[in-house]
Amino acid sequence: MNLKEALIPRLSTKEKPFAPKSFDSFGNIALIEIPKELSKKKKLVGETLIKLHPRFETVCSIESNHEGKYRVQKVKVIAGKKQKVAFYKESACSFFVPLGEVFFSPRLSGERLRISNLIKEGEVVGAWFSGVAPYPIVFAKHSKMKKAIAIELNPVAHKYAKKNVELNKSNKGCGKGEERIVLIKGDVKKQSKKFKNYFDRIAMPLPHTGYQFLKEAFYSIKKGGVVHFYEIIHKGDFGVVEKQIMDEAKKSKKKIKIIYKAKVRDFSPTKEQVVFDILVQ
Ligand SMILES: C[S@@+](CC[C@H](N)C(=O)[O-])C[C@H]1O[C@@H](n2cnc3c(N)ncnc32)[C@H](O)[C@@H]1O
Repeated sequence: MNLKEALIPRLSTKEKPFAPKSFDSFGNIALIEIPKELSKKKKLVGETLIKLHPRFETVCSIESNHEGKYRVQKVKVIAGKKQKVAFYKESACSFFVPLGEVFFSPRLSGERLRISNLIKEGEVVGAWFSGVAPYPIVFAKHSKMKKAIAIELNPVAHKYAKKNVELNKSNKGCGKGEERIVLIKGDVKKQSKKFKNYFDRIAMPLPHTGYQFLKEAFYSIKKGGVVHFYEIIHKGDFGVVEKQIMDEAKKSKKKIKIIYKAKVRDFSPTKEQVVFDILVQ
């Protein structure tokens, strides 16, 4: 039985069509979007979800969009234990995630693994906009990279990134000998200046405003390197972003080729998150 089916008998005829079916799992915490028509039934939705999936100690509701420069979404505990720090596992790595204080999406796990599989032995990787460090930690576990330099502005995300690197240290070396993950708290605009022609690969998961940092990516990437660039587009409409990338490359006097483009996840009924892999020649 799914959540919608479990809720329907407990809702009025007017409420039934709004019963939610899907939610995101953050390990011990479930995060769910509840339509405004059910705003008085949040507790019922949360408790029903815990009954269906007892692995969840807590259910939180989404209370805002991702906002501000840290791309943070407000959340509220609606059922179970009063806690907001999730303990989440992905691709044999573990993470503490303070919901409501940092950006994190389990729906990007496939992307993290896809890039890990592309990383060649000895590569130096830029994990820009790194949040609580899911990209560099999955890269460390699943590739033979030399090291990743992770840059993040949000001090809370940086604090948890440190905790998460520590948590995964014994897990095929985020550390061990030479540090394989270097965490920098700072602004990519400023920090990237230290890394001219430095990276073999840069992941830049900052949809909406990431294009403002393409200049920095073209400055920091080596010849022959690849930039993984993310954006939100109207479904299927890759063209606008492709032009934006080409224009930025021209300004930076770089010859580039888009070697891969694909949908990463749905963003809304009309929009999707996509990735472009840009080879800098
Ligand atoms: C969409 S989130 C991605 C976080 C993480 N990579 C993940 O997938 O869970 C973008 C992140 O970039 C950070 N950020 C925004 N502007 C930044 C800047 N100028 N320099 C460094 N980090 C920045 C935000 O605080 C946020 O954590």
